[in-house]
Parts: sequence; structure tokens; C-alpha cells
Amino acid sequence: MTEHYDDHIMGKAYDGQMMRRLLGYLRPYGRHVALAIVLIILISALKIIGPYLTKIAIDRYIAAADLAGLGKLGLIYLAILVALFGLEYLQTFLLNSIGQRVMYDLRMQIFSHTQKLDVAYFDRTPVGRMMTRITSDVDALNELFTSGVVTIFGDIVNLSGIILALFLMNYRLAGLVFSVLPLIILVTLIFKIKVRENYRQVRKLIARMNSFLQESITGMMVIQIFGREPRKFQHFESINKDHLDANLQAILYYALFYPGIELLSAVSIGLVIWYGGGQVVLGAMTLGALVAFLQYSERFFQPISDLTEKYNILQTAMASAERIFTLLDTPSAIATPAEPISPAQAKGAIEFHRVWFAYKDENWVLRDISFAVKEGERLAIVGATGSGKTTLINLLTRFYDVPRGEILVDGINIKQMDLYDLRRRFSVVLQDVFLFSGTVESNIRLYDENITLEQVREAASLVHLDRFIDRLPKGYEEEVRERGSSFSVGEKQLLSFARALAFDPRILILDEATSSVDTETEILIQDAIQQLMKGRTSIVIAHRLSTIQDADRIIVLHKGTIRETGTHQELLAQRGIYHRLYQLQYKEQYGRRPHVTNVPSVE
Ligand SMILES: Nc1ncnc2c1ncn2[C@@H]1O[C@H](COP(=O)(O)OP(=O)(O)OP(=O)(O)O)[C@@H](O)[C@H]1O
Ligand SMILES: [Mg+2]
Repeated sequence: MTEHYDDHIMGKAYDGQMMRRLLGYLRPYGRHVALAIVLIILISALKIIGPYLTKIAIDRYIAAADLAGLGKLGLIYLAILVALFGLEYLQTFLLNSIGQRVMYDLRMQIFSHTQKLDVAYFDRTPVGRMMTRITSDVDALNELFTSGVVTIFGDIVNLSGIILALFLMNYRLAGLVFSVLPLIILVTLIFKIKVRENYRQVRKLIARMNSFLQESITGMMVIQIFGREPRKFQHFESINKDHLDANLQAILYYALFYPGIELLSAVSIGLVIWYGGGQVVLGAMTLGALVAFLQYSERFFQPISDLTEKYNILQTAMASAERIFTLLDTPSAIATPAEPISPAQAKGAIEFHRVWFAYKDENWVLRDISFAVKEGERLAIVGATGSGKTTLINLLTRFYDVPRGEILVDGINIKQMDLYDLRRRFSVVLQDVFLFSGTVESNIRLYDENITLEQVREAASLVHLDRFIDRLPKGYEEEVRERGSSFSVGEKQLLSFARALAFDPRILILDEATSSVDTETEILIQDAIQQLMKGRTSIVIAHRLSTIQDADRIIVLHKGTIRETGTHQELLAQRGIYHRLYQLQYKEQYGRRPHVTNVPSVE
């Protein structure tokens, strides 16, 4: 399974540098944060008054049967409660809206960074992992902001207030309350270690389940056709079972921990009643003080068990922050240079000069490739599967950088050009057409405002897409479903041609699809390609040799090197690889089908 999904879940619970960086995201909302902190401190302080008022009520008014005084005190108590309500409302609203805004900012930052990353990064990073960064990792940080960082101030005020009140009222009794503290700390520590281990396990299993589901749902057709459902079901069951077990284990810990803490606090309260009760009987302590004492003691244990929760939040958030920052700090291997050079004129001339390229280490996919395409020229590239044709295009559009040799567009090394400026010169029709969700029109225009609806229609009609669009119930407004699943392969091809044409590039690059279409569509596609190439420099990677017979020049690529160059006629006369390919396709054309799917390997 995809173990690389299981990047570490838990790291350090606290990392000062990371925390400072995280807090930096609060800076734009500094005033709101300050206000929230003031509110939290105020709320905690007000909450401490409650039990003390109870003490006064009992000792001063109930003991003296002073009803008027009791009424007055009741009103004060009520006023405090109302004030608390207002303050807590404000505080909750404020904190959560700050958290949401920070999440918004973070997501924008991550997405914007993701858009700049180079293709090689996406080659080695699973989609699921990128999605986790923008969704659940950001969520984890939100929890830190809303219930972690800022509320810690409240807890500190709260706890120190209670400790102070307890000691001031009766330091011996206070000592008794705190006597169970070491035990509570011990139990909490054990719990924390167990839960942490368990939490890590659960996260790992969820990640595994996600990647399994992602793959299974995408590949459902293959699973169903090959009848692999039982096998997949078993696989899923084993992951799901592990997930269940891990969660049951966690439930066990929680079911022990919270009642355990409750038991300990009950013991300490029992001690207070026993010892404090004795003191009251002896007259060393008032009844009111004892009641207030009990209330304080109860409130003392709550924040302590909350602290465990907060520790977990802190730890999760730190791990998430680390992963998010690692992504944000990943520089794009391919970027616009500091001082880009712009070619004097956008003509569309291309030159490869002794280019070598490997996706990994020294596994050369292209070796010493040199060729030039003049403005307006039509270059065709043929070669067996895996000979490096698509790679050539990936280099030209700078999806990868060449380690050796150079590529020039209009006389300038593409590494020195502005990336946007470079890519704007090209329209690339890829081997696999990618359609976005949206309408047919938005898929042609890609929401570019410079392209009018008229241009969209014109492009569609030039590549013969219009006859197909006319058949759609909503025409250009027809919805494109997930990955364009409602379109046939041929239709998608034509749509991508219309897209390429609408962008009216200087240079057209066409990586012909290897899949087969019917004869009629084939003719439409061939004509569309002719339309596309008109008046611009073009590089066509062809699988059907019929596409390229009138190309100005044909390059035959073989295992990453250029083996033959020339026009159709010249290459035929050479009686080399091209000649053999042509014969094979020719035979096949008259044998079974009117086209050939791929160029066979030639030794
Ligand atoms: N992203 C990648 N990472 C590593 N290796 C790759 C990558 N893309 C392609 N390759 C390898 O590079 C070689 C050339 O691939 P390329 O896609 O350029 O072939 P192609 O000539 O376009 O083949 P086809 O006719 O099947 O489209 C192949 O051996 C392929 O396995
Ligand atoms: Mg290819």
C-alpha cells in the first residue's frame, strides 16, 4: 500500500520557531486577538467571583436571616451571569471568526504556492497528500487558534485565581485538595502517552483508507470488468478492521481516563468535606467558606483535564504546521529568472541545441538532441512508444529543465525567459485531453476574458466541433461532467483542438492521441489539424503517418536520439526506420482498419 502517505503525524508538541511563524498569521487581526485575550481574562476573573458570593450569601445573609441583603446579592449574581453571557458570546464569535479568516488566508497561500510548483513535484507527490494539506491540516491549525493558544490565557488566570482563593480561605484545606494532584498528573501522563500512540495509529489508518478509496473509486470500471470486487472488498475490510480496532483501543483509554480523574477529584472533595466539615463543627471555619471551597475545588479539576486535550491539539497542530510549512517552503524548481529576457519579436522559432534529459539520475531519455524549427515551419516527430516524444514537448514548455544543452525560442534560452511569457506562445494539445468541470464553452475558453464567445464559436467551427455541439441539448452551455466522462474520445480531441485554436498561439504543439476513432471522425480530426497548423509554427507528434505527409520536415526519434530527418519522400527513399513504419501502416490500412494506433518498435 501507499506507505508514503503515512508521513509522521506527531512531532514535537512545541516548537518555538514554528509557533512564532504560526502566530504571524494572527498579525493582520492583531486588534481582534488582543480584544479576545482581554475578554477571556475578564471572563475567567468574573467566574472566580461566583463561589465567593455564595460564601457571603451563606455567612452574612442566610446565617443572619437578612432577606433584603440576600436579594441584593442575588441581583449582583444575576448581573454577573448576564455579563458573562454577553462576554462569552463576544469572545466565542471573535475567536472563531479570527480562526476562519486565518484558515482562509492559509488556504489561499497554499493553493497559490501549489500553482507555482513544478511538474516534477507533482510526479513524486500523491494527490491525496496535497489535498490533506489544504483541508485537514489547515483545520488542525484552526483548532489551535480557536481553542488552543488564546484560551490558555484564560486557563492560567482561572487556575491561579482558584489556587489563590483556596489558599487565602484556608491553606490547610487547600493543601488537602492539592494532595491528589500528583496522582492526577501521573494518570494524565500515562493517558497522554497511550492516546498519543493510538492517535498516530488512527491517523495512519485514515490516510490509508483515503488513498485506498481514492484509487478504488477512480478505477472502479477496471475493478468491475475484471471482477476484482471480492479481492478489493477483502482489502478494504482489513483496513477498516484495523481502523475499528484502533478506535476501540482509544475508547478504552478514554473510558478509563475521565472516570479515573473524576474518582480522584471526588476523593479530594470527600477529603474537603470530611476535614472541612470537622473545622466547621469546631468553629474554625464558616459554613459559607466550606461551600465556596467545595465549589472552587470542583472547578479546579476541570481545566486540568482540559489541559490534556489542549496538549493534544497543540501537538496535532504543530505536526500539521510542520507539513504545511514544508510545502510552503518547497521552492519551485522552475521559475521565472530575476531578470527575464524577452525576445524582440514573438515569431515562433525553436531550436534544440545538444539537449540531454533524464527524469531520474543518469537514465537518459533524450540524448544529444539538436534540431531547429523556423518560423511558420511544420515539424513532425515520429518514433516508438517511450522514445521520448512527449518528453521533448515537456522540455520545450519548461515543465522540466534540461541539465545539459539548451533550448531556444526566438533566439533566447527559455530558462532566461519569463515563464508566463514563454508558455503563452504555445498551445499544446496533450495526448490525454483534460476537461474541467464547467460548460463546453468554459472548457474551450478556460475562463480567459480575452477570448470572446464569437472566437470560441469560430474555433469550434474550424475544427468541426460545432456539429457535435449543435447536437447537445444546451449547446455551448452543456455541463461537462467529472473528467468529461459524457464525451467520447474523438469529441474530447476536437474540443481540445478548439481550445488550442481559441488561444491563437504562435506555436502549436500537438501530441496526437494514440487511441482510435472511427473513419469519419478521423477525417474530421485530420482536417482540424490542418486548420490548427495554418499560419503558425507547429510541432506535431504523429502516430498516424497520414497526419504528417506534407510536413516540412520529419524527425524520427529512436530510443532518445534522432535517427532520421527529412521530408516524407526523402525518408521513404532512405529505406530506414520511417520506410519500415510506413509500410507497416500501409499494410494495416488495407488489411483491417484505416489507421494505426502506434508506431511499432524498430530494432
Ligand atoms: N514523469 C516521468 N518520470 C519518469 N520517467 C518518465 C516520466 N515520463 C516519461 N518517462 C519515461 O521516459 C521515457 C519517454 O517517455 P515519453 O512519454 O516521452 O514517450 P513517448 O515517446 O511520448 O511515448 P508514447 O508514444 O507512448 O506517447 C519512457 O521510458 C517513460 O517511461
Ligand atoms: Mg507520448
